[in-house]
Parts: sequence; structure tokens; C-alpha cells
Amino acid sequence: MTQRIGIGLAGFGTVGAGVYKNLLRNAALLEQRIGVQFEVRKIAVRDLKKARDVQAPTEIFTASPDDLLVDPSIDVVVELMGGIDLPLAFVKKAIAAGKIVITGNKALLAEHGREIFQLAAEKRVPVFYEAAVAGGIPIIKSVREAFVGNRFEAIHGILNGTSNYILSRMTDEGLDFAPVLAEAQKLGYAEADPALDVNGWDAAHKAIILASLAYGFWIDPKDVLVEGIEKVTAADIQFAHELGYRIKLLASIKADEKSFIEVRVVPTLIPKTHVLASVNGVFNAVAVKGDVVGEALFYGRGAGQDPTSSSVLGDLAEAAAFMQSPRRCVGFTSHDLYGRCKPVDETISKYYLRLGVEDRPGVLAQIAGTLAKADIGILSVIQPEGLVDGSVPLILTLHDAPYGSMKKTANELASLPCVKGTPLLLHMEAFS
Ligand code: NAP
Ligand code: HSE
Repeated sequence: MTQRIGIGLAGFGTVGAGVYKNLLRNAALLEQRIGVQFEVRKIAVRDLKKARDVQAPTEIFTASPDDLLVDPSIDVVVELMGGIDLPLAFVKKAIAAGKIVITGNKALLAEHGREIFQLAAEKRVPVFYEAAVAGGIPIIKSVREAFVGNRFEAIHGILNGTSNYILSRMTDEGLDFAPVLAEAQKLGYAEADPALDVNGWDAAHKAIILASLAYGFWIDPKDVLVEGIEKVTAADIQFAHELGYRIKLLASIKADEKSFIEVRVVPTLIPKTHVLASVNGVFNAVAVKGDVVGEALFYGRGAGQDPTSSSVLGDLAEAAAFMQSPRRCVGFTSHDLYGRCKPVDETISKYYLRLGVEDRPGVLAQIAGTLAKADIGILSVIQPEGLVDGSVPLILTLHDAPYGSMKKTANELASLPCVKGTPLLLHMEAFS
């Protein structure tokens, strides 16, 4: 007889409803491939009266996620509610109750991964989270399993669909930020709190998960440099274009020769010739560099109902495999080959610096002198003609420098009388 696996869906929004819809759509295929039938036995939502695009029997809805945990017919709970406090309590209770957990909640894992996986290991309950990073791209399984024989030299990724959608439309169609964000929200790409998409933290949560998995210790969010796309203007996109670059919200994860780990998620100038520069719209991509495999590239939709639910279906198949043949806990395995992050101020990068300056003799010399004093070399200079808000833009690209020194020097430049407004400092990635 075909085994039946009971599912409790906590959340029936963009992703939860997508999981339900696609489980029904591909039920026969899943049964043929993995020999089980999945049955959604309860669905927890906040508002039982809400009109929904995807229909499910009303009697299986509940407003109490805990109902899923006390139902003995539910083997696997799928947490797709969003937020942190409620999902944390829910996931911990689910593990304690011996229910297999699937979640797409990157904020939860980035903030509380250490305790969740510790508890999961103690209770020998698997926690799967493919949907938490890069939507439909199977990057968690790849880093955890396919590349298990590699040391990771670097992982670079475009990990937030909403911000990539916004930057792409600003770049290619010259559109303004606000209406494009509203469109991304309508399309189901954005977080319930879209500030997380725009301020870099959603991508940072994903980078923390990837880096923790790759280096075997849970990265503290305090060790990650995070900046959002809100400060990037149409003029910066144009200047970057003239310099041969595109601006992307890029996650850079690296191990240095002393095994210190560096994680940053910042708007970054990427050479137009690099493959990540042509990842546009809601698409995400992850470039992995392992010491055995060399370079590998993953590309796909990073947000939205169907791509994300595809990752959850993959996790459900893993849950079924675990139930058929329980094995070592597979969510996250810590090890002690790494364990330390490099202080952000010591990380090295090239930079793009936009200043507004007075249009008079000697200004360029003063700026070059300040940079020289800090031992920061100039790679290139653009100073287009014409005043903008009473000053002229001066765009410098700068040689490798420690971030701490670069930040301090940018502040010194900002305090010069010839510099007007707030300078914009962005990283440049050479992928070397
Ligand atoms: P969503 O559309 O806002 O759906 C959230 C669902 O959770 C809704 O059904 C909501 O109920 C329910 N819910 C919220 N609070 C609840 C509570 N206290 N009790 C019971 N139910 C509650 O969110 P989403 O876009 O599907 O995202 C869900 C999770 O997946 C988030 O962690 C998100 O970061 C992650 N994720 C999303 C995407 C994406 O493309 N959207 C991609 C990858 C990962 P109501 O329907 O009654 O409001
Ligand atoms: N808000 C997220 C994004 C959803 O835009 O990438 C996918 O995690």
C-alpha cells in the first residue's frame, strides 16, 4: 500500500497556497517518483474569513498553528507564516513533538539557526529549508550534499528577487524606485515587511544561512556588513554603466588564507562582462567556487509562488525519504575547521565613491591629497560638466583598501568645505 504522509501547513499566503496548489497538481507524479501520497491535513492562517485565490476544504483551516502540532495524523509541518517570534516557538514545539519541520523562513534561521539545529540534532528531527534561500534554486541541497567534498573558497550571490527586480527596472527602463517596489509586492515577491528587501537584510539572512552551511558554524548577523539599495540613484546606475559596470545587491561570502570568513551584502559594482551582471528581474544566481569543483553557477527565479513552492516540494520528498529510512540529521552539521569571521573593518575591496564638490580650482587636488594620506590609490575619475544642486558630481573608483580606513576617509572627505552633501561609497567586486 502506498504510504500516506500527513502535512500541516502553517501559512496559506503566497508560498503556502502555492505548495497546496502544486501538491495537488503533481500528486500523481510525486507518487510515481517517490512512492508516497502527501495529504494536507490542516492549514493554519491568521484570518479564517479571508477570500483566497487557492481553495482548500474549509474544515481543515484553523487559526491556531498549535493545532497542527497536537494532531497525530500530521507527520510534517511546513512553516510559511513569516516573522520570527511565533515561528520560533512553533518550530521548537514541532521538533519537541517529533514532527519533521520544513520552513522557508530565512529571517528565523539567520537569527535562531544555532538553537534550532541544536535542538533538532538532540531530538534527531530533520529541519529542511530549501525555500529559505534563492527561491526555486536548489542551492541548499547543493551546498549541503553535492559539494560536500569541497572547501568553499567563495560564494557570490544575487539573493533577493525584489531588489534585483527594482534595480533591473531602474537600470533598463529608467523607472523610479517606489512604483517598481509596489509592482514587486503585487507579484508576491516582497516580504510582508518590504523594508527587509530594500535594506539588504532579507539577502543578508540568506547569505548567513549559506555561509553557515558552507563553513560549519553559525554566523552571527553582527559580523555581516549589510547595506540596502535605497541609497543607489539613477545617476549612480548611469555612472557605473559608463565605467563598464552594473550595480547589484551582491552577497559575497569568502574564506581567506587564514580561514577567516567574510560575509557582506551590499550594492556592488559588478563588471558588465561577469555573468552575475546579466542576472535581471526576479531572477537570482549563486556562483560557488569550491577547491575541487572549481566554479559552478546556479540561476533561477528567486521569489514568487511557484518557484518557491517547488523548493518546498523538494523538501517534502526529502522528508518522505527520511521517514522511509531515518538517517543522521541532515539540516546543518557544525564542524571546527573555521569558526571566526573577519572584522568588517579589515575586509578589503575596491570602491566607487560619488562626491558632490564645488566647481573651483584645487578641489581635485584636495580630495586626491586626503585619499593619498590614507594610502588609498585612485583607479579612475569622472567629473561630468554641469552643476547638480549647486555642486558638480565627482566619481572616483579606488584601489583595494580596508573598509574601516575607506569609511573613515569618506567621512573626512565629507567634512571638507569643498564637498557638498553626503558622499556615496559602494563596493566593487573583481571576483578574483
Ligand atoms: P504571506 O503571503 O504573507 O503569507 C503568510 C501566511 O501566514 C498567511 O496565510 C497568513 O494568514 C499566515 N499567518 C501569518 N501569521 C499567522 C499567525 N499568527 N497564525 C496563523 N497564520 C498566520 O507570506 P509568504 O510570501 O507566503 O511568505 C511566507 C514565508 O516564506 C516567509 O517566511 C517568507 O520570508 C518566505 N519566503 C517567501 C517567498 C516569496 O516569494 N513570497 C520566497 C521564499 C521564502 P492569512 O492568509 O490569514 O493572512
Ligand atoms: N522577498 C524575497 C525576495 C522572497 O524578494 O527575494 C524570496 O525569499
